[in-house]
Amino acid sequence: MPAYDLDHHGDREVGDGLVDLAVNVRLAAPPDWLRAELAGCLADLAAYPDARAAAEAIARRHGRAPADVLPTAGAAEAFTLLATAFRPRHAVVVHPQFTEPEAALRGAGHPVHRVLLPASAGFVLDAGLVPAEADLVFVGNPTNPTSVLHPAPVLRGLLRPGRVVVVDEAFLDAVPGEPESLAGERLPGAVVVRSLTKTWGIAGLRAGYVLAEPEVVARLRAVQPPWSVSTPAAVAMAACSGRDAVAQAEGLARTAERDRAVLVAGLRELGVEVAGEPRAPFVLVRLPGAARVRLALREAGYAVRRGDTFPGLGPDWLRLAVRDPATTRAFLAALAPLVGG
Ligand SMILES: Cc1ncc(COP(=O)(O)O)c(C=O)c1O
Repeated sequence: MPAYDLDHHGDREVGDGLVDLAVNVRLAAPPDWLRAELAGCLADLAAYPDARAAAEAIARRHGRAPADVLPTAGAAEAFTLLATAFRPRHAVVVHPQFTEPEAALRGAGHPVHRVLLPASAGFVLDAGLVPAEADLVFVGNPTNPTSVLHPAPVLRGLLRPGRVVVVDEAFLDAVPGEPESLAGERLPGAVVVRSLTKTWGIAGLRAGYVLAEPEVVARLRAVQPPWSVSTPAAVAMAACSGRDAVAQAEGLARTAERDRAVLVAGLRELGVEVAGEPRAPFVLVRLPGAARVRLALREAGYAVRRGDTFPGLGPDWLRLAVRDPATTRAFLAALAPLVGG
């Protein structure tokens, strides 16, 4: 099995004044209303944080009970809590996907079995590839980096007694209407992980949450470091779960969908292969010589995400973030001479 750098993330590829198509955080800064909420809680920082109001707001947003919700320091903390709370005999990570779930499992000492979805099938989830003995399964929806959205019935079909299925929905609020989500359902063994950091430009704040059965939430809470969700993070969670914020996220998702169409059409015009049917605010492309293209793009002022650190991908893959049409068109113009366009 080739060794992949599971700790590599897009943020390592940006800087030096490059236009950033490597990181999937969508807003360059949190919106003014959110900044005002954050500024408003600064006077309360002497007190230890209390995330209960945040959990109630999140529960209302998804039609769940507060006991089904665990606020976390980003989705990333949720993966570590899951890897710590459970003692899987046969943990499975469905790849290609975000590498932190596998890193968390390995960090906790669990062997990891990889299920690799093939490019030839458009990286679509095939439940038959998950072995019967799997007792803890991680899958992304929509998946980073493939941008593929898996059908909810296929995800539900992975559930069975004695198995926990973790669905990472970190980017589902970036898909208009949030189709195929399991967030609103209390299903035995289903754990949904959500992030607020991408849509709201608050990666530095750390804000995410878990939706699961109360017994699972209690197990995760038991291993969560005390006060790991800070007061500003809890304030942001409550604010971002309100009706107006959810409506605004939906508007951003629709814009991203239109912007993605510009990117995908431009790539196809250049003869660049786009993987699967992209549904998230990023697309995965296959280009012979992608490593050389990535370096040439840096020379031209653009940072894109290398694909070769994702299990199941290799040196021919790049992930591109969806940006506004003007940025995308300028990027495509820089890409054209590198791919013979
Ligand atoms: C698919 C996916 N899940 C989870 C995360 C982590 O999100 P957070 O910032 O909430 O920890 C990321 C971040 O890149 C991601 O791409």
